Amino acid sequence: VPLDRVAPALAAQLAAIDDRGVAKRHEPVITAVLPARGELGPRVELAGEPGRPFLRCNANGYLGMATRHELCAAAERATEAFGVGPQAVRFISGTHTPHVALEARLAAFHGRECAVVFGSAYAAMVGLLPVLVTPTTAVVSDELNHNCIINAARLAQPAQRLVYRHLDMGHLDDMLHAVPPTVTRVVVVTDGVFSMRGDHAPLQVLGEVIGRHHARFDDGVISVVDDSHGVGALGATGRGTEEASAGRADVFVATLGKALGANGGYVCGPAALCDLLRETAATYVFSNPIGPGDAAAALTALDLLDGPVGRELLARVRARAAQLRAGIVALGYETIAGEHPVVPLVTRDGDRNRALAAHLRANGVLATALSYPVVPRGDDEIRFQVSAEHTTSDVAELLGVLASFPDRG
Ligand SMILES: Cc1ncc(COP(=O)(O)O)c(C=O)c1O
Repeated sequence: VPLDRVAPALAAQLAAIDDRGVAKRHEPVITAVLPARGELGPRVELAGEPGRPFLRCNANGYLGMATRHELCAAAERATEAFGVGPQAVRFISGTHTPHVALEARLAAFHGRECAVVFGSAYAAMVGLLPVLVTPTTAVVSDELNHNCIINAARLAQPAQRLVYRHLDMGHLDDMLHAVPPTVTRVVVVTDGVFSMRGDHAPLQVLGEVIGRHHARFDDGVISVVDDSHGVGALGATGRGTEEASAGRADVFVATLGKALGANGGYVCGPAALCDLLRETAATYVFSNPIGPGDAAAALTALDLLDGPVGRELLARVRARAAQLRAGIVALGYETIAGEHPVVPLVTRDGDRNRALAAHLRANGVLATALSYPVVPRGDDEIRFQVSAEHTTSDVAELLGVLASFPDRG
């Protein structure tokens, strides 16, 4: 058998992962989503544990859009009209009206000339950076950037890759000073919201810093912001980190698969860039788009977000996040201050982190335990993700479970 000689090496790699206690492949299988009842928000059931409802605090659906009937109905209508899958890439067999309408809506929502939808935000970033980056470009990156940015920057093969300390705009300034004059273009790239911490890039200051270096390079300094966790979560109208930090990215990337409740990703920016992406971004030209149903659902989510429903959902998720943060502090745990529905409980200890995660699970709460290398060493945390679907009783239940953990530190 051809794999015979490779198989032991693969098994050894798996064993090493298991030894480190970081295995991800034993995925919980959700068998049912139970609707909200009375004081309680929705619950999920998992395979192997029938009849046992779990409070889900590990999903990115900050606004509870994914299960809203308006989105389900829009997806169903578009699916009936156009079919489930796109059947080919867009330039080959044609694009569908939901994709075109969604791109126009995204561009208008973010105040940009144009938007291009990709299969995911990961695919958007991996498509974008190789198009923006030339052999004489330097890429300058926040040290905690998402994996899609790190891999996209590698694939783009810039002249230089520089990394600045997390959110440290003074260090970004130093890095820009260090870029040699042989470089003709600089791309500064950052997450908007950092999903492990719920903090966000200070985009106004970032804009000022890069503005000071702009004239030194033939093509200037460009900012690219991936705000996958910011859209629908931060800012008075849910426009994300730009709104929360009074700044603006030159090129904006985000997902349709978190607060917007659908699936897919997008790039917003000037028309020339969007046109060039449709010509040359590998993950656009050679990879299918999202299905028409997802596009229609995302369009509906944007319409809802950009109106009274969105304001109400944003107010609700903020109130619940504030309730959880305050409760965590009152119990003597450490958290990271902020307004975002990612609410970390920082344990700084791998064993305690695992024990707390197990305690939560045993008491019906699903949350994510994060340790090195997902977060820096010593930053072990339990990440809670609050949703507008959570009720005050849900958060109180979660705090009750945290209060009953014997090792509060
Ligand atoms: C900053 C950032 N970019 C991209 C992604 C991936 O989004 P998608 O699932 O749409 O590829 C995530 C989420 O994990 C993220 O946090």
